[in-house]
Amino acid sequence: MTNLTTSTTTDSQARLKREAGEYAVRFVESGMVVGLGTGSTAIHAVRRIGALLKQGALRDIVGFATSTATLNEAKALGIPLLTEDLPRAIDVTIDGADEVDPAFNVIKGGGGALLREKIVAQASRRLVIVVDQRKLSPQLGVTWPVPLEVMRYGYASQARFLASLGGQVDLRLAAGGSPYVTDNDNWIVDCHFGPIDALDALARKLEGRAGIVEHGLFLHMATDLVVAGADGIRHQTRPR
Ligand code: A5P
Repeated sequence: MTNLTTSTTTDSQARLKREAGEYAVRFVESGMVVGLGTGSTAIHAVRRIGALLKQGALRDIVGFATSTATLNEAKALGIPLLTEDLPRAIDVTIDGADEVDPAFNVIKGGGGALLREKIVAQASRRLVIVVDQRKLSPQLGVTWPVPLEVMRYGYASQARFLASLGGQVDLRLAAGGSPYVTDNDNWIVDCHFGPIDALDALARKLEGRAGIVEHGLFLHMATDLVVAGADGIRHQTRPR
């Protein structure tokens, strides 16, 4: 199993990711609590917020990071941060995604941060998903497996359960070949279901299984989608 975070990115994809991430910072206003996403697209939003704070164009922002990697980068940029708890609701979160369907349902977790990302997404009034056009898909499961954060304890039982749901189970490995360990000290499984017809039903089954800490299906959560493509940047709000 390859590490999903190491897929190759061309220069033009990297440019589109930067454009999408930076564009979304227009939804951030002074005084807001901002959820800081994880990955090679969302990080551009974090860097832009840091730059605007430095210039004085944004003030009194407090960030809440979705991963240790983002936390460290935000700290280095001088963004004031909440680190452990959330005394206030998050006004807006900007985060990436691995696959996005026409109803703005998304698969997340390619970077292994899905649990914290979902905690932040659920605590947010507005969730802006930033992607390059390659992430758009007619149906979830077509281009990306569903990442799941699982407890190590009893892991083989969870793997059998996922197989019984029709999934092909891949334990994610780190560069050295041992299991990838999340910020929460759990493992990640990439589960290939193929095109998923009944998203909500699958989500409920995964949520009902002890030992599966969280899954990477983010359903009915994104309020906004920013897509960078060869023809420019498109912003849409969730279809009703
Ligand atoms: C992190 O766990 C993920 O959910 C990322 O947001 C997602 O994998 C998108 O990453 P890129 O922006 O690096 O493609």
